[in-house]
Amino acid sequence: MAVHIVGSINIDIITSLHRLPLPGETVLAEATARLPGGKGANQAVAAARMGTEVHFTGAVGKDDSGAWMIQRLALEGIDVSGIRSLPEEATGTAYIAVDALGENQIIVVSGANAKLAGCEPVGQGVLLSQLEVPIPTLAELFAKSGALRILNTAPALIEAKALFTHVDILVLNRPELDIYAPIASLGADADAGWEALAARARTLFCRDDQAAIVTLGAGGALVVRKERLLHVPSVPVRPVDTVGAGDCFCGALAALLGEGRSLEEAVPFACAAAALSTLAHGAAPSMPRREAVADLLSGPATEHAPAIKNRSSVILP
Ligand code: RIB
Repeated sequence: MAVHIVGSINIDIITSLHRLPLPGETVLAEATARLPGGKGANQAVAAARMGTEVHFTGAVGKDDSGAWMIQRLALEGIDVSGIRSLPEEATGTAYIAVDALGENQIIVVSGANAKLAGCEPVGQGVLLSQLEVPIPTLAELFAKSGALRILNTAPALIEAKALFTHVDILVLNRPELDIYAPIASLGADADAGWEALAARARTLFCRDDQAAIVTLGAGGALVVRKERLLHVPSVPVRPVDTVGAGDCFCGALAALLGEGRSLEEAVPFACAAAALSTLAHGAAPSMPRREAVADLLSGPATEHAPAIKNRSSVILP
């Protein structure tokens, strides 16, 4: 079934640095590049490169950047008929710094993304969104949609908790979990173990049938249900640029779920896709193709995944 992505489109201005600046500090950069990005667009590219039918709804400015982004998404085979070009707005722009270890800092100027409104409900398939478009727009969309609804809670916005009741699967990373479900929410100590993280993720559930996926970067991912917990290990890689890795995870996840795969099947695949995405520069351009992910999961050990064949998921009671 098709994947419907409602989300942001940005031009990423990416600067490579030896190290990220401290507050008030000036650092000299080595290079800068202008690449396609935006969490929604990145997720759409990731899903499309898994071979899935992808429909995108979003907003750009009626400017050269907007036209360029629509063209880039169309070249990926994505249905771009739901992208509006708004005459009064500029296309969203993200200013991204990446250091020599692949860590990053991102500042987003929302532009047209902040004006996205009145989206058609999605009746079937998979709906995937993030929080770079207005929360009221997503609230209406998620409440009215009958599709499998996935919300990637990035960037963390505490007011987005109002959406959670209309979500089937939440995808959040560790810093986002700390914001939506701080340690104090359980009265627990600072235990970072899988069970403790899962307990905090469960405090976000509004219904018994919801699931949360907590992504842990090199630590893999947790699949959290009301009474079950699965840890999926990541694939060991030496990242050159982690920008968009979370988006890659979400896009690949949505694609696999759209094929009718279970979370237990989809999450290891999404972890492998996200790991591969960190081996290239940029966000949307670094999304791997399905064959590369499949090779990584089934093929012989490689320089980037030396132990993949011996890694297995741990199902906890
Ligand atoms: O998740 C990475 C993305 O965040 C970048 O492409 C940037 O545009 C921001 O939206």
